[in-house]
Amino acid sequence: MVNPLQSRTGTVITGVILALIIAVLLKTPDANGVITYAVNPLEINVWLHAIVGIAWVGLLYYFNGIQIPAVGAALADGDPGPAAINKYIAPRALFWFRWAAVLTWITGVGALQHMGGLHGAFTFAEGWQVIGMGAWLGTIMLINVWVLIWPNQQKILGLKEASPEEIAKAKVVALMASRTNTALSFPMLLGMTSFGHGLPF
Ligand code: HEM
Repeated sequence: MVNPLQSRTGTVITGVILALIIAVLLKTPDANGVITYAVNPLEINVWLHAIVGIAWVGLLYYFNGIQIPAVGAALADGDPGPAAINKYIAPRALFWFRWAAVLTWITGVGALQHMGGLHGAFTFAEGWQVIGMGAWLGTIMLINVWVLIWPNQQKILGLKEASPEEIAKAKVVALMASRTNTALSFPMLLGMTSFGHGLPF
């Protein structure tokens, strides 16, 4: 079977389909046959708002915090050309990438704790399944960052000793983990936004 994560379009389509399937599955009735979640078609808009907002502001931070200062540092070192990407830009981007993931997780857990739903969300207790799905997917994404993406990127960028075969393998693993996270981000954000706004249909 063709792996949809082999292409960027396939990755996005996989994520959207996953989100729609999960939205249907989460609307399961409780023990009394009552569907406990509100349904709100406007949620589609809120979900898209979060996705494109993250894309916009994520890139804003990337340009201001990573690319502009990294290119400045590369030019000050005598303009290494395209090599500047691996040497100056990627390590800086990956630093913020992996630590922002940790801080997102910690603040998410903090929010759940504050709402009295930390245990409920992670065990999919009644009333907590929607945010629980988002929290679990966010947790899986964090693990992917630290266990699969970062160690393999270190080999790819030459920050860690690796043979050419190991580097070739690292590229495949890092790309697939990265595309998995891209696909998972769509249902994850549906969980985040639907908790407060209702499921989309
Ligand atoms: C992985 C990246 C994550 C992103 C981009 C993200 C994004 C968001 C967004 C946009 C909201 C606002 C939803 C709304 O009010 O409409 C939200 C709420 C929330 N998120 Fe996340 N989240 C992430 C991970 C996590 C994780 C890992 C957890 C828990 C372990 C978590 C727990 C929560 C909680 C408890 C809320 C508050 C829900 C509410 O009060 O309605 N998030 N998140």
